[in-house]
Amino acid sequence: MKHTFGGLWTQEKLQVLEKYLQFYATALKNQPFTLHYVDAFAGTGSHDPKVKSSQGEIIPHEDFQGSVTTALNIEPGFHHYHFNDLNPDHIRELRALKVNYPNKNIHITEKDANSFVPEFCAALGKKDRAALFLDPYSTQLNWATLKYISATQKIDLWLLFPISAITRMTPKDGAKIRPEWRKTITRLLGTDKWEQALYRPKSLPPMDDLFGDQSNHDGTERLNVDELEVWVTKRLRETFHYVAKPHRLTNNNRLLFLFYLAVSNPKQQAWRLADRAAQSILKKH
Ligand SMILES: C[S@@+](CC[C@H](N)C(=O)[O-])C[C@H]1O[C@@H](n2cnc3c(N)ncnc32)[C@H](O)[C@@H]1O
Repeated sequence: MKHTFGGLWTQEKLQVLEKYLQFYATALKNQPFTLHYVDAFAGTGSHDPKVKSSQGEIIPHEDFQGSVTTALNIEPGFHHYHFNDLNPDHIRELRALKVNYPNKNIHITEKDANSFVPEFCAALGKKDRAALFLDPYSTQLNWATLKYISATQKIDLWLLFPISAITRMTPKDGAKIRPEWRKTITRLLGTDKWEQALYRPKSLPPMDDLFGDQSNHDGTERLNVDELEVWVTKRLRETFHYVAKPHRLTNNNRLLFLFYLAVSNPKQQAWRLADRAAQSILKKH
């Protein structure tokens, strides 16, 4: 079964993830920890990126490793691999893939990531440490789930935040927000005060217009995308001890996702190390 999604930005995100997992597993290999890799939106283990014909010359249209296979192929490996997905077809693929890795401890679950992650967090013991990847298609992840991760103080998180879904659901003109989207935005951002934060009074008209029609200047307008990024980053930094500047994943110059590293460990030594690794990896992208 072909799992088709993404494009060149998908490759980019997996390259960053791979480098970080390599760093993480190597840095902790001689520590007395049990290391877990957790993929809460695991997919199938491979994917068939939708590559536009103009880009087809750069990257051939073929199957690529997904995050699951990327993590399984890293050496030194993790002690446990936890793959979760809600799609039964994907679960079947993951079970088939498991057979190819008889020496790895692979745990496969078919749950909503917003239930799976809190359950995984609650089961972590004193000596457990985890690298967790959250890779939703779009608006599937609740902000509340991030709080469980942060509270463990044992997890390094790579989060794909769907900034394009936010811009889609929050029109420039505040009067045009669709009532049916309000609940989703609140769930995604973890606050029902998002409208006050993301919208401001419309800017004043230029002087020439002051004596003309001002009806277009009433109401509110949404922050621009750079300001949205600052706001999301600030909120994450209120939740985690360390959050790296996000890596922007784009398609045809359109910002799709913000790719964040967030560290739940409060010890400065731990997040300084993560910071150095993230800076060095992201600089190359
Ligand atoms: C972008 S794909 C994951 C790709 C994968 N990480 C990779 O790199 O190969 C998102 C996955 O999340 C799954 N999914 C969608 N909603 C979900 C939910 N609420 N909980 C868990 N998985 C979900 C989909 O079935 C899909 O396989």
